[in-house]
Amino acid sequence: MSSFVFTVGADALALRWPDGSVSTCPYVWLRDNCPSVLHPQTRERMFDLLSIPPDPRPRHVALADGLLVVTWAGEEHVSRFPLDWLARHRPGTRPADPADIPRVPWKGDFRIPRHDAAAILSDDGALAAWMADLARSGLAIVGGVADEVGAGSALAERIGFLRRTNFGITFEVVSRPDPNNLAYTAEHLPLHTDLPNQEIPPGFQFLHCLANAAEGGESMFADGIAIAEDLRAADPEAFRLLCTVPIPFRFHDAEADIAVHRPVLTPDDAGGIREIRYNAHIAGTFDMPAQLMADYYRAYRAFMTRTRQDRFVLSLRLAPGDMVAFDNRRTLHGRGRFHPNTGFRHLHGCYVDRGEFESRLRLLARHRPA
Ligand code: OGA
Ligand code: ZN
Repeated sequence: MSSFVFTVGADALALRWPDGSVSTCPYVWLRDNCPSVLHPQTRERMFDLLSIPPDPRPRHVALADGLLVVTWAGEEHVSRFPLDWLARHRPGTRPADPADIPRVPWKGDFRIPRHDAAAILSDDGALAAWMADLARSGLAIVGGVADEVGAGSALAERIGFLRRTNFGITFEVVSRPDPNNLAYTAEHLPLHTDLPNQEIPPGFQFLHCLANAAEGGESMFADGIAIAEDLRAADPEAFRLLCTVPIPFRFHDAEADIAVHRPVLTPDDAGGIREIRYNAHIAGTFDMPAQLMADYYRAYRAFMTRTRQDRFVLSLRLAPGDMVAFDNRRTLHGRGRFHPNTGFRHLHGCYVDRGEFESRLRLLARHRPA
């Protein structure tokens, strides 16, 4: 077995690890990350990059007691890097992240994972298992939620604080005489994501079913990533237009007027899909150049058509005590029309943003027994 070896190059230090892999550490990066520059309590960087020349060079490099010791030329400074820190931070690779749970696309035959409310409330392992399913699939149901307004949001708050919107910190989905939103009527709600008119649409959505006695009102879900990837494979030009052409989304009532232009699909750095904004009832009047419209409408219809196909869409009837949780920037949701004179239907909803969700995943991993 070979051991750890370093080589002093012109611009960078080359490190060869016992497994034969090599990492290249530019000197400016090493100097910027000298462990002595971190605040001892906050761990934030106190170093001012502009306090050194743009091209620092080592005068001497040595290995001592598991530390790589770099004495810098032209300044009175010595940096001591623990080898395990250098092994975890290899330029060109991202350090392992417990919040980075790969997404697994699903279709209309998906069996939605079920979790138990009491377990999630009392046990971090059950919370982590629910969150892992939500991260992977973007859809999970929690059963056994107490029959009280606030029981669903208490589960959401196990993940993180709630995202407030113009509809409140939580919202009541009931048919109202004075609706400001189609959700607050008894109408059919075609598959959509909520609040695509926001600069950052809410991350995870939680809908706790308190009553579902009316005829109709079944719930529908589809994986926006599965639909987008199917479209990419079948019609790359349509996919490209949905990724690149911003369209208007707007909500306005007496208190708010919240509007953005954004594409329907936003790719991520790895070539996957970061988020989907799809909501035909909040989309405004398309205002791209007229010569683009025929192609854009064709692409938009190709996406929309898939949201009506059984191969992508699953339906179910929420029962009182069920709470459905889903990634609102990935999973499309909708409901069938219901008949309010046949019984009461009441969902209590709230949101938690993706950042808070990921933070909880990292904290749970930190405390997980080895
Ligand atoms: C919503 C919504 C679904 C339902 O409130 O945004 O989509 O089942 N509701 O009523
Ligand atoms: Zn909705």
